[in-house]
Amino acid sequence: MTAPPAWWKDAVVYQVYVRSFADSDGDGIGDLAGLSDRLGHLKTLGVDGLWLNPCYPSPQVDHGYDVADYTDIEPAYGTLASFDALLAQAHDLGLKLLLDLVPNHCSSKHPWFQAALAAEPGSPARDRFLFRDGRGPGGDEPPNNWPSVFGGPAWTRVTEPDGSPGQWYLHLFDAQQPDFNWRNPDVGDLFESILRFWFDRGIDGFRIDVAHGLVKHPALPDMGLDKALSHSPMWNHPDVHDVYRRWRLIANSYAGRDLTLVGEIWVPEVEDLALYLRPDELPQAFYFDLLTQPWRATALRTAIESGIKHIAEVGAVVTWTLSNHDVHRTVTRYGQDQSIVVGSSQDPAAGTRARGPVDLAQGKSYARSAILMLLALPGSVYLYQGEELGLPEVMDLPLTARQDPIVFRSGGRDLGRDGCRVPLPWEHDAPSFGFSPADEPDGPATPWLPQPQWFADYSVDLELTDASSFLSLYRRALQLRREHFAAPAAPLEWIELPGRDDALAFRRGERVCFVNCGAEPFDLPSEWGTVILASAQVSGHTGRTASPASTVWLTTTPTT
Ligand code: NOJ
Ligand code: MG
Repeated sequence: MTAPPAWWKDAVVYQVYVRSFADSDGDGIGDLAGLSDRLGHLKTLGVDGLWLNPCYPSPQVDHGYDVADYTDIEPAYGTLASFDALLAQAHDLGLKLLLDLVPNHCSSKHPWFQAALAAEPGSPARDRFLFRDGRGPGGDEPPNNWPSVFGGPAWTRVTEPDGSPGQWYLHLFDAQQPDFNWRNPDVGDLFESILRFWFDRGIDGFRIDVAHGLVKHPALPDMGLDKALSHSPMWNHPDVHDVYRRWRLIANSYAGRDLTLVGEIWVPEVEDLALYLRPDELPQAFYFDLLTQPWRATALRTAIESGIKHIAEVGAVVTWTLSNHDVHRTVTRYGQDQSIVVGSSQDPAAGTRARGPVDLAQGKSYARSAILMLLALPGSVYLYQGEELGLPEVMDLPLTARQDPIVFRSGGRDLGRDGCRVPLPWEHDAPSFGFSPADEPDGPATPWLPQPQWFADYSVDLELTDASSFLSLYRRALQLRREHFAAPAAPLEWIELPGRDDALAFRRGERVCFVNCGAEPFDLPSEWGTVILASAQVSGHTGRTASPASTVWLTTTPTT
């Protein structure tokens, strides 16, 4: 008998931005107990698992992506005991749980970095990071010309213990996120013990932060004029693959657990992405090419085809996603002018954060259509909290409320990522929309980012009672996906639609998914069978006319 396919191959995983999901203790900051209390929402939504953004002790400069201790829990979020309780509860409900591993850099408050600051240039403590002498007279210039993804230079100069101006250290992100030197074996050993610590505790896998960034070009040379990511000495160095070969062996050594590792890998060529998914490397990696496409049928089809083709060539499955905590929310992206070309830059996610006019009605139609398309594709799907409510991006947070280091490092030119991190609305008429408890003795808590009044319209309680809401669509779609599109299921075959380059259709065995990106209705051929679900009304005198800007699922298998 062959083993059943690993759970993650077709799983729908819900990303929890812990800080903004639910607050149990009234400090205005989401926490693990708040998530435990609201786990029922995820169970009834119908997802298979959760991925938690980093919840380790952290100064919270980059909200947890600056880790001070990899084997404990951030006090504002809970304790190891509340983590264990959450994990047990998730498993009781049949939900898998993934943590977020941040191996490229730590917090400047991590004991290793503190020891490096106190140690001499050239010391073993400094060699765990990327310290270099500066260039120019007095070493006053950074060692090379690399920019930080968050703006400004990727180097910061330290003051040596004797008070003299000293060496520089590399940080691809904020200055309080020093990059590890992955060519020093201590670093690999540290992370192997971290993997084991959490796997032994019972988690089901990790999402791996900037997985393509760990190992740099050994000479740290200047970046050339061609700033394309594919030619950058900062990213995607071939030596990084050794890290994942070792980690895969560790994951596989937990026999019967089907542990997964999901890489966050922003590389311009899907061929390069596929290399990380070779059988002895990462089980999964997000396929961001689809996320960066405009809502145009030809662009979507090209991205889907190319992802499936190249990822299948290495024997892996695609991990689809349209949303996360670094990009503008789908409703907002798809409500904008779709002819805006997303250019490549040091930070590809930045291209998804266009400002400018938003047509919410268009954005909602496209986002509803998009989720049905995504859920019909072969592979796994990652959702970002709040997308099941159709939440738009909060575009007008006051500058004084913003907390993303991108805002500060870019001098306010890039307004960053706070707008998709605003605490969730649970109840339309409660203080902080039910995010924090209402009955605190000192009055209701102030959420860590201000919620706009219009969040009331997207609250979970209202959407639950509205059959036309995003939440109702997501719940129905997740339930039907299990039945119709989950593995082991038929591969994708395209159906040509002559004369309609504004629409696409594909077959998966007896099921068809039709996506109308255009403004014209479309008569669904009778050979596609009966309608399972649609993102907008299917009407017309034959009852088979798909609306503009909608997706329809059909089947030729009679349903009971
Ligand atoms: C990618 C994460 O998704 C993002 O939120 C974070 O700021 C950077 N990596 C740095 O860790
Ligand atoms: Mg709290």
